[in-house]
Amino acid sequence: MEVRLQKYLADAGIASRRKAEELIQNGRVKVNGKIITELGVKVDTTKDKVEFNGKVVKVEKKKIYILLNKPAGYISAAKDQFDNPSVLHLLKDIKERLFPIGRLDKDTTGALILTNDGDLSFHLTHPKHEVSKTYIAEVVGCPTAEEMRSFMKGLIIDGKKTYPAKIRIVKETKKNSIVEVIIHEGRNRQVRKMCEEIGHKVITLHRQAIGKITVDGVKEGSYRFLTDKEVQELKK
Ligand code: URA
Repeated sequence: MEVRLQKYLADAGIASRRKAEELIQNGRVKVNGKIITELGVKVDTTKDKVEFNGKVVKVEKKKIYILLNKPAGYISAAKDQFDNPSVLHLLKDIKERLFPIGRLDKDTTGALILTNDGDLSFHLTHPKHEVSKTYIAEVVGCPTAEEMRSFMKGLIIDGKKTYPAKIRIVKETKKNSIVEVIIHEGRNRQVRKMCEEIGHKVITLHRQAIGKITVDGVKEGSYRFLTDKEVQELKK
């Protein structure tokens, strides 16, 4: 069977399809011993030899989907320049090479899906697939009705307007408040920036759910496998 090289790499769990395109363009992938940098190339899965970073890449049939309740202090990437621990260290029993769908900041806790299904990752991180993400944030002070209205309509963050979002107050304490925020995008530090934009700096941030998949019942630092039904929902 012939497939595009970037899909082959995604199916093999090397990276999401979009990231695989970058790897190809950066000259990190060889087919039958030759570096390929264009994106149109197809490979025959039965006979072509694909290499990434000098190692032969094979397509694993078994797809794995994990929901991790990420603790603070862990990064979502495999590595950073500060040697912070990676969420991948929390999946010691899993032999397959997994990568997270989207990112959570080092200090954000909660729901993170990890998979070796590069195709699912490609679909879910595409803005048109609007999977909702629910966050619980403790913020400084308490947002006013007016501030919440502008939050919901969309704010300019990094020069670009955010899509309509939701915010509601869950609890008010003396100085601070707990809010629930629902967004459909995954821009860098988006919730923190949006709250700050309306004048309420985030103190702690927790992702409660991705679509209907919640971390309820999963202890911090632990994970569970997604059910077939949950995977089907995400693929819709
Ligand atoms: N928004 C943020 O600000 N941080 C996250 O980790 C996720 C969403």
